[in-house]
Order: sequence, then C-alpha cells, then structure tokens
Amino acid sequence: MTDAVPTIIDCDPGVDDAIAILMALGNRSMIDLRAITCVAGNVPLSRTSANARRVLDLAGCTDVPVFDGCAHPIMTPEGRTSSAHGSDGLGGVDLPEPVTTIQPEHAIDAINRIARDTPGGIVLCPIGPMTNVALALLRYPDLKEHIRQIVLMGGACFGPGNITPFAEFNFHVDPHAAQIVMNSGIPIMLFGLDVTRQALLNRSFSLDLAASDNLFYQTVGQMLGAYESRDPCLHDPCVIAWLIDPSLFQSVAAHVEITLGKDDAAGQSVARTSAKHLGERHPNCECVTHVDAVGLETLLKRSLEQLVQSGVGRPD
Ligand code: BDR
Ligand code: CA
Repeated sequence: MTDAVPTIIDCDPGVDDAIAILMALGNRSMIDLRAITCVAGNVPLSRTSANARRVLDLAGCTDVPVFDGCAHPIMTPEGRTSSAHGSDGLGGVDLPEPVTTIQPEHAIDAINRIARDTPGGIVLCPIGPMTNVALALLRYPDLKEHIRQIVLMGGACFGPGNITPFAEFNFHVDPHAAQIVMNSGIPIMLFGLDVTRQALLNRSFSLDLAASDNLFYQTVGQMLGAYESRDPCLHDPCVIAWLIDPSLFQSVAAHVEITLGKDDAAGQSVARTSAKHLGERHPNCECVTHVDAVGLETLLKRSLEQLVQSGVGRPD
C-alpha cells in the first residue's frame, strides 16, 4: 500500500461517477482513497451524497469517509442537473438506503485537513462541478501547496459541449468555480469531452455484467445499461484510469480559460495550444486529447474483477 497515491474524489454521482469510484476501489494498492467529497451536480446534493455512500456499500468499502459539500454553485441559487443519470442519479437501479454514514465535517474543510495531513500532499480528482474545490482553494489560500495535482473531468476544448452547444456540464454548472480551479497554479490534467467522447464501451460489456449471477456485477451492469442509452461516454472513469495507467492517454499542454456569465457560453473552455495563440500566456494544464478505448474497457473489467475477487457480490 506504500506506493498508493493518496487521493480524494470530489463527485456528484452520477452513474459514471459511480463507475469511477468503483474503479478506484478495485485498485486500492495503487489508489489510496482518503475521502469522497460530494457536490450538487447531476442530481441535488442530498442525492449525490446518498449515492456515493450507496456505491461504497455496494463495493463493501464502508471504511472510506464521505463528506457533504456545496449544495449549489457559487453564483446561482440552484444549479442545472443532468437527466442522463435518471431522477435518482444511479439509473433507477434498486440499491438499498446507505449504511455508510456521512461525516460531520464540511467537504471544504475535509479536503484542507486531509491534504495538510498527507506528507507530499494529495491528488485531487474533481469529477463534478468544481464548487467544493474552488471554495476550498479560496478559504485556505496555502492549500495549493498540499495538492500534488488536480486530475479533473470538465470542459470541451476542441469540440462542442454536451449541455449547451459550447459548454460541458461540469464547467457549465459552475463556471466561476471552474475558472478558479484552472487559475490555481496547481498542475492540472484536464479530461474534457475531447477525450471522454472516445471512452465508449461495447454494448456487450454492460449486457454481460447484467446477465451474471453475481449480484455486484448485475447491479453495475444495470446501472451502465440505464446510463448508456442516454450518454454512452465513460467521462469520469477516464480520470481514475489515468491514475492507474497513464499510458492509455495522450495530451497536449494548453492554456484553458473559462467563459463566465449565464448564457449558453457559460463554462465554455477556450483552449490555446500554439505559440501564436498562447502569446504571453503559459499553459495551465495538460489537456487530454486521446484514449485507447479498448485498453480502458479492459482496465475497467479488471478493476471490477479485482473487487469481486476481494469478496464483493458473493452471497453471505
Ligand atoms: C460530466 O457531466 C456529468 O453528467 C458526468 O458525471 C460527468 O462528470 C460529463 O459532462
Ligand atoms: Ca460527474
């Protein structure tokens, strides 16, 4: 466990968030998951929080602490939600009420405390709107010294958005937070739609899981099946896959700036990569552009198998 990367996942589960969490839990020798912090996004905060804990219960990993964060974006009283995950956020799959409890500390304070207590700092993986992360950076100005790297899902640098013609969901919901994070000076790996639109599974993947006689596989297969029909992309798992096997991805150094405001352009990620467009600016992230989708599917399969080998999903 000594080489495992100390990691916090900040998320809004969300089916693809759930798959990302399971992928991390299937690779605990590589990813030391110190906490899951929740934010409003795909569904309201009360649901993202319950869903994160339902996923931990499903994986039999009730030792990971879960913290509630912000219930709405910085500048708007209510954030936009996503219909891709169903009204409950997990594709309507029948999962029991969570046994894992919520910790009393606010996510912003938990991120700060855990990062400071970790020698060498943490890797922070935001895979929902960036509200918690941005406010943690504002509240604790020297927190950035305790964050090794931010590996995030957000943006659409070289193509259209998914929630508006210009913007990707996570950045559109809280563009101000996205801009604070992108300007933080912390090393950032940015997984936007440019790469996550390539992260497609074979339809047989979820069908095979759903047909299994293992309850864990069945549940994951049903979740993926419900999600695939609305959004076929494994956005958030790309972030975790990169921590496990960066050789699956290619990236380019870029300066990414976020468009603010309230209209369809809010949260648009404007990327500059060439010397001509960068001008005096310096790159503020590595913008990931390509994934080996077959390799990603193999890694996901192996991660789920590793969870099952650890005893998850077998009848008591
Ligand atoms: C992002 O939006 C959410 O719906 C997904 O969970 C992912 O984080 C993709 O745009
Ligand atoms: Ca998400």
